[in-house]
Amino acid sequence: MTGPKDARMSARISGIGYYIPEKILTNFDLEKMVDTTDEWIMTRSGISERRIAAPHEASSDLALAASRAALEDSGVDPKDLDLIIVATVTPDMSLPSTACIIQDKLGSAKAAAFDISAACSGFIYGLATAQSMIAAGHTKKALVVGVEVLSRIIDWEDRTTCVLFGDGAGAVVLEPCPHGEGIIGTYMQSDGSLGDLLYRPGGGSRAPLTVETLMERQQYVKMKGDGLFKYAVRAMVDAAERTLEEAGVAKEDIDYLVPHQANIRIIEGVRKRLNLQKEQVVVNIDRIGNTSSASIPIALGELKENGTLKKGDLVIMVAFGGGLTWGSILFRN
Ligand code: UT7
Repeated sequence: MTGPKDARMSARISGIGYYIPEKILTNFDLEKMVDTTDEWIMTRSGISERRIAAPHEASSDLALAASRAALEDSGVDPKDLDLIIVATVTPDMSLPSTACIIQDKLGSAKAAAFDISAACSGFIYGLATAQSMIAAGHTKKALVVGVEVLSRIIDWEDRTTCVLFGDGAGAVVLEPCPHGEGIIGTYMQSDGSLGDLLYRPGGGSRAPLTVETLMERQQYVKMKGDGLFKYAVRAMVDAAERTLEEAGVAKEDIDYLVPHQANIRIIEGVRKRLNLQKEQVVVNIDRIGNTSSASIPIALGELKENGTLKKGDLVIMVAFGGGLTWGSILFRN
């Protein structure tokens, strides 16, 4: 699905912020917890360490810190927000939404607030939704957050998943701009027939948490990593190419690629297929791990923070994840 074609308005990112928890869990720490090695994790995924939320921190706490940083960066008063979208698969609780929790804490009384569940593509889906609502004239100032506390739904006895994921949050503020500026291309796609490649069976209406489901460890994420790997590069490249085509932009015009950080080998595959240089790709998977919906806004925040992102730069963000879901957004800074 592409964005509105004839809209007179679009949306620009006017602020970026992120928050990562203090506690660092290294590969060497993991060597003491499961049957793994730093060498295996580094060569297979590119991850060296990841951040883990403190026991008192829930998704809304991380989201709030990232949101405050993004709002400060944009100069937008939280009271003026009219839309808050939080992308997460680890909400504080299933009801109310994490978006409503941070709406209250931010004092954004006139905002509509809701969560989006699209796994690692959640931030892209949230941003595309907010952009469409601004382009349609329904919304003026929007906050879009990607946040995960994956450490709470990971099986710390399963070496095939526990070495990959981390916690964190990233947020952007969106404001209206003329069509052709700001976000100039969006693309989203899903394939529910492949849902069993990455899922969490327990804790919903299908398998509520009971002593039995807990004993069967159904509360934890199950992943077929090699199955996902097969689709990841192809889907991410396809999404990027469709987004570029919609915007009438050539690959050569891209300044930066901000990819979802699932695996350095996937990122490298996408980079090569898009003919980009290593310096054009934002990579933080070595320090942050896979933070699902938070990975793109955290990487974007770091790109802005390190001072290399210039006014007018063309940035393409590309995600892929459970669902399956994938998508891309192209914007001019
Ligand atoms: O965020 C979006 C969704 N996620 C993804 O897109 C992830 C995509 N998949 C991947 O990134 C990779 O498939 C992984 C990093 C998860 C795994 O890499 P792989 O090269 O596909 O390894 P594998 O799953 O094929 O496992 C190879 C071997 C297996 O042993 P056998 O069966 O060959 O004897 C695993 O049991 O490595 C073993 N293994 C480990 N060994 C040491 C699996 N996990 C570990 C571990 N430490 N942590």
